[in-house]
Amino acid sequence: MMKIAPSILAAYIANLAAEIDRIPSADYIHVDVMDGNYVPNITFGQDMVRKLSQLTNKPLDVHLMIMSPELHLEEFINAGSSIVTIHPDSTRHLHRHLMQIKQLGAKAGVALNPADPVCLIENVLDVVDQVLVMTVNPGYGGQAFIEGQLAKIAEVSELAASSGRPIDVQVDGGINAETGAKARRAGARVLVAGTYIFSAADPEEAIRSLRG
Ligand code: DX5
Ligand code: ZN
Repeated sequence: MMKIAPSILAAYIANLAAEIDRIPSADYIHVDVMDGNYVPNITFGQDMVRKLSQLTNKPLDVHLMIMSPELHLEEFINAGSSIVTIHPDSTRHLHRHLMQIKQLGAKAGVALNPADPVCLIENVLDVVDQVLVMTVNPGYGGQAFIEGQLAKIAEVSELAASSGRPIDVQVDGGINAETGAKARRAGARVLVAGTYIFSAADPEEAIRSLRG
């Protein structure tokens, strides 16, 4: 069953409690953490994760787009992150820090940017719970889905299946009913969507349309 992770980057931030009430069927809440260095934009920190964890029992799926994420893993996990995803090129010792995420009690995810080759994650498949395939360049919500990433979603899905481990393939960026269906056919198991869900008149209907 497809899992849906609305990205609160696209929510009305001044009333997050009301925004979370609009998405009762969401599986996770996706939290995009940006530092103005790894990506141009600056968004949320660990306090936001803590506040969200007080507003919802849903797992918080925290996507770290920050340099040296290892400096902050403990704070983010203590604040209530259930899944923490990091980017290979944001850290010197990817394997070590994925292990650290697990030792701190969260699920570990690794992300691939559009230009990143799949081989970047081959040697960490034994420790990850989730692989995030970015279908936009990280940094902003509301960008257009990059169709050329569908082949990568399929390749990562095959790798995940052949690993013999329960690894979720997550797709993030420009997801709507149409691109979500393409990602699903390519093997995605978790869809992140910000603009499509939160700008919908009926976010629950948008979530249903993504499940297929
Ligand atoms: C982009 C973020 C995405 C973003 C998705 O850097 O990682 O999670 O919030 O937003 P939409 O669904 O609007 O493309
Ligand atoms: Zn994200």
